[in-house]
Amino acid sequence: MAAMPDAPLPELVELPQLGATGLDALLNEEIGVWERRFTWDFRPSADLLRRFLQIRSLYGYALRTGEEIVGYAYHVCEGRKGLIGDFYVRPQRGGWPAEMLLLNSTVESLIASPGIRRIESQLMMLHPPAAQTLPYSRYLARYDRYFMSIDRAAASELKPRTPLVRVTFTQWAERHFEEVAHVVSASYKGHVDSEINDQYRTIPGARQFLMNIVKFPGCGRFSPTASLVAIDETTGRICGACLASLVAPQSGHLTQLCILPAIRGARLGYELMRQCMTRLLELGCTTVSLTVTCSNVDAVRLYESAGFQTKGTFPALVWEGF
Ligand SMILES: CC(C)(COP(=O)(O)OP(=O)(O)OC[C@H]1O[C@@H](n2cnc3c(N)ncnc32)[C@H](O)[C@@H]1OP(=O)(O)O)[C@@H](O)C(=O)NCCC(=O)NCCS
Repeated sequence: MAAMPDAPLPELVELPQLGATGLDALLNEEIGVWERRFTWDFRPSADLLRRFLQIRSLYGYALRTGEEIVGYAYHVCEGRKGLIGDFYVRPQRGGWPAEMLLLNSTVESLIASPGIRRIESQLMMLHPPAAQTLPYSRYLARYDRYFMSIDRAAASELKPRTPLVRVTFTQWAERHFEEVAHVVSASYKGHVDSEINDQYRTIPGARQFLMNIVKFPGCGRFSPTASLVAIDETTGRICGACLASLVAPQSGHLTQLCILPAIRGARLGYELMRQCMTRLLELGCTTVSLTVTCSNVDAVRLYESAGFQTKGTFPALVWEGF
């Protein structure tokens, strides 16, 4: 988005100062943007934000121009980590200067929060050019990510492929939780995604990550019916998993696909993903999406060869060492 040279910068307002309905118009607009860009129903998230606003417990900033709220970002703190939960600025309302003002203030406020040592964010509504200098850049690592999707026709054409390892595929059940947490943590050792999300680095972190996917509605509504695990027939242990959520009634999202390192390249990832998508189509989905780090070439190759198309790019930003 081009900056408007003469537009005055909006003023910053702390979110708890806004009334319960202060973000209503902006959230309603944002719901439409999520629908158009990502086929994603943002309403449950917007309702949750409204409830927190109502009890003045949503922390972050809004941008105000006159009477109009033109942007907002909120953050939460989890132990030593700050998370920027959402970031949205109305298009044509200030451009980069306004977006950078909002991002700078959000990061600044987290850096100043006692005990916060790391800030993570995945900002699907922000599209900074690669050359754009971002706030607190000396502490910042930037990882661009793709948003990809496949439509029903292409997904339903995928052919079954027998993996080169003997496995049994089983629908997700609550009893798999602990073992899948171990598989997640083993799968992301030394992986770029564990730079982006430090929950991948430890088993307690992987448990928390799974809890967020399976129990909480932040990334859609978890679908136990569409999610599945692969069990190694030799060891009887889970060796791979593909988890999915419904982000709209007819829109599935793959929230996790991982295979233990020792058995990669055996078509297990492909087959888990294909079966998961077949289940999503049976549930009535007309599209399936996912996000993947651009430098995760094995995964990108798998998705592209299966027919996923890149619909957009967004940054994952991590500040540390401040
Ligand atoms: C990405 C991942 C799930 C792929 O699983 P996998 O079982 O190794 O992949 P598959 O064997 O099913 O590969 C299927 C296709 O993808 C491509 N591919 C995937 N990994 C490849 C590799 N290491 N080398 C060459 N091609 C590869 C190929 O096109 C392959 O097709 P082919 O069998 O005709 O060669 C696995 O590497 C993994 O768990 N990575 C760590 C976690 C991760 O990155 N998850 C994705 C997050 S978005």
